[in-house]
Amino acid sequence: MIGVVQKTAVTGIKPTGTPHLGNYLGMIKPALELAAEYQSFYFIADYHALTTIRDSVTLRQYTYEAAATWLALGLDPERVVLYRQSDLPEVFELAWILSCSTAKGLLNRAHAYKAAVDVNTVEGHAVDEGINAGLYNYPVLMAADILLFGTQVVPVGQDQKQHIEIARDIAATFNHAYGEVFVLPEARIREDVKLIPGTDGRKMSKSYGNTIQVFAPPDQLRKSVMRVVTDSRTPDEPKDPETCNLFALYRTFAPPAEVEQVRQQYLQGGLAYGALKQTLFEHLNDTFAAARERYNTLMQDTDHIDSILHEGAMRARALAHPMLDAIRARVGV
Ligand code: TRP
Repeated sequence: MIGVVQKTAVTGIKPTGTPHLGNYLGMIKPALELAAEYQSFYFIADYHALTTIRDSVTLRQYTYEAAATWLALGLDPERVVLYRQSDLPEVFELAWILSCSTAKGLLNRAHAYKAAVDVNTVEGHAVDEGINAGLYNYPVLMAADILLFGTQVVPVGQDQKQHIEIARDIAATFNHAYGEVFVLPEARIREDVKLIPGTDGRKMSKSYGNTIQVFAPPDQLRKSVMRVVTDSRTPDEPKDPETCNLFALYRTFAPPAEVEQVRQQYLQGGLAYGALKQTLFEHLNDTFAAARERYNTLMQDTDHIDSILHEGAMRARALAHPMLDAIRARVGV
């Protein structure tokens, strides 16, 4: 293998929206924990976001928000290499090289592309209507992000599982043609936080409009929590905690002993949803108050964020550059 640094973790966050609890629990928190053991490269995938965002001001804003989120939640830029994907030209050169040994059929099977084709089919449009080639090639760019660092583990949410499998496939195909160059990366998915329900009970996702933002100001945070959908049982009636999305959110942020008490109240009756929402709000507010302050401070000084990201890019490039040279030599350019 080329360029293997011991125990490397890589992950990216796509700046397409303001970070919410699903992002935090599904990816950011596990990734920050992993960074204690692994040499970690965490980045803002702005070129991935370009497949959907058409407004430069918006893209820049989301990019800063993503970087400030990592930093506010405790990423130490001295230990973790934090950078903006677009600051690493090596990634894009590798993406082209990889695309030349990637079967088109593999990309046809990618979930995001297939979902877009399905919508077109249902709506009676041409299969590829409105689908840009960036969306189609998205998995190749993601493979380049990962493979460039000899990455062993990729901390991601459940929804990214197929993308890591595609990266492995691409790596294996390349290795088959050119010799053992790439490490086959593994997804690190936290089974216990697989599904973070949104306020409507479906998976928390920006596209469903059911998110609770990590750094919303307290009044907005409270409003989001009050929107969490519950059934219409009265306080006196017994309830099933396991099927209640309010409980699912609550248990994630409350101390275990308190969760146990509330679980008993669910089963025996005597729990009012409104009161539990207030408690959940307070736990969330306590959990994130200090980080929210750091976040707001960071967002007021984007030059400072820029300098952290540039510094990270320089460190990442110091590793990426020799790796890319070695790959270029293998393929003969
Ligand atoms: N596709 C990921 C997402 O939407 C973001 C991403 C881009 C990524 N490149 C990556 C994640 C490399 C892990 C590794 O969340």
